[in-house]
Amino acid sequence: MPLPTIPYRPPRLPEDEMRRRGGDFLAEMDRRRSVRMFSTDPVPRDLVELAVRTASTAPSGAHMQPWTFVISGKPEVKRRIRLAAEEEERINYQGGRLPAHWRAALEPLGTDWHKPYLETVPWIVVLFEQRYRVGADGVRRHHYYVKESVGIAAGLFLAAIHHMGLATLTHTPSPMAFLTGLLRRPENERPMCLFPIGYPAADCMVPDLARKPLSEVMVEV
Ligand SMILES: Cc1cc2nc3c(=O)[nH]c(=O)nc-3n(C[C@H](O)[C@H](O)[C@H](O)COP(=O)(O)O)c2cc1C
Repeated sequence: MPLPTIPYRPPRLPEDEMRRRGGDFLAEMDRRRSVRMFSTDPVPRDLVELAVRTASTAPSGAHMQPWTFVISGKPEVKRRIRLAAEEEERINYQGGRLPAHWRAALEPLGTDWHKPYLETVPWIVVLFEQRYRVGADGVRRHHYYVKESVGIAAGLFLAAIHHMGLATLTHTPSPMAFLTGLLRRPENERPMCLFPIGYPAADCMVPDLARKPLSEVMVEV
């Protein structure tokens, strides 16, 4: 049965105002950087909640909203995540699990297997994708376009964190399966990425990278 409908009447803005808003938003988003050096200063929980609520406004296939944001500020949870993530990353970087082309691609970023920030940041948010759901009747139901939907939610989460003046890193300590057991998530959930949340450290440095120009990312046909 179709849902009832409600009016949707966002204000129609003058083009100059649209241009100004678009330009301001671009400038703000262009200032976002992935941070790997965090301050230990506390971050109020409600700010993390605001970012999760923003992410959860994302569109999703058949409106299934197939995401779970697991948040923790508990020192013992963060420590366990750090240790497990470092173990996987140590095998990647030192144990030869990363293929040569991947190592070469990471080289300019200067990353290695050490992830001390996972323990010292005030919050860790792990984004899980729900591959399917189990109804109250125990019946398994489909989710649609799960990766696309969760990817869009992740983007909105990043934007919300940045907009509030916080910093994060899109972190994928691959393989991430350890997070399912460690965070006691159900069978239908798979970790997609992990976000340490905090303020950048006072001496935070980031790679001096450039973003592709419009001519390389847009094609008009
Ligand atoms: C899907 C995805 C996975 C990533 N995984 C990692 C990671 O495991 N470790 C890391 O240090 N950075 C990771 N990054 C961050 C990228 O290295 C970073 O976004 C890129 O270098 C561009 O820098 P910027 O975010 O500051 O613009 C990841 C980014 C994405 C989108």
